Amino acid sequence: MHDLEWLFGYGSVIYRPSFPFVERRPATLRGYARRFSQASDDHRGTAALPGRVVTLQAADGAVRGIAYRFARADAAAVFADLDVREQAGYAPQRVTIELDDGPAVPAIAYIAPPGNAWDAGDESLDTIAARILIAVGPSGPNVEYLLRLADALRDLGDDDPHVRALAERVRAGLAAR
Ligand code: BEZ
Repeated sequence: MHDLEWLFGYGSVIYRPSFPFVERRPATLRGYARRFSQASDDHRGTAALPGRVVTLQAADGAVRGIAYRFARADAAAVFADLDVREQAGYAPQRVTIELDDGPAVPAIAYIAPPGNAWDAGDESLDTIAARILIAVGPSGPNVEYLLRLADALRDLGDDDPHVRALAERVRAGLAAR
């Protein structure tokens, strides 16, 4: 892994990188879909009431995100930061991403595979939205995680139907409070 110099962020890393990097570029990862199918009992929820956060699932289509290039000398620090930040079921995987206006490059993406201990399974949008509305964890409300991601994707010019559908439901739920 430490021979690589790009990290593909598709969740909170899009709007809140917490590691040193030298360049950030919009990028596309093909063959995956972004899904709020991962239970979060350490960041956006608790053991008693886990929130829902994103992972990537194999699918036709593509995921838009941000590629961060880091200095090789910082690789250990980058991976140490992400290994601590995203421990619940995620593992670094080698992928190939397409940089906007640039070449395809090898990169690392942190992906929680199907069947991991935090896999929430195939829940309906209403079920996921209802959980996001009430879950709060050490990193803050689950609502904030979803809406910041939705805003960041809008700023990227992306329309992710799964995230959009959840954001619509959650905004409606907040308005009804
Ligand atoms: C990301 O935002 O790329 C990310 C999502 C889940 C785990 C680690 C990183």
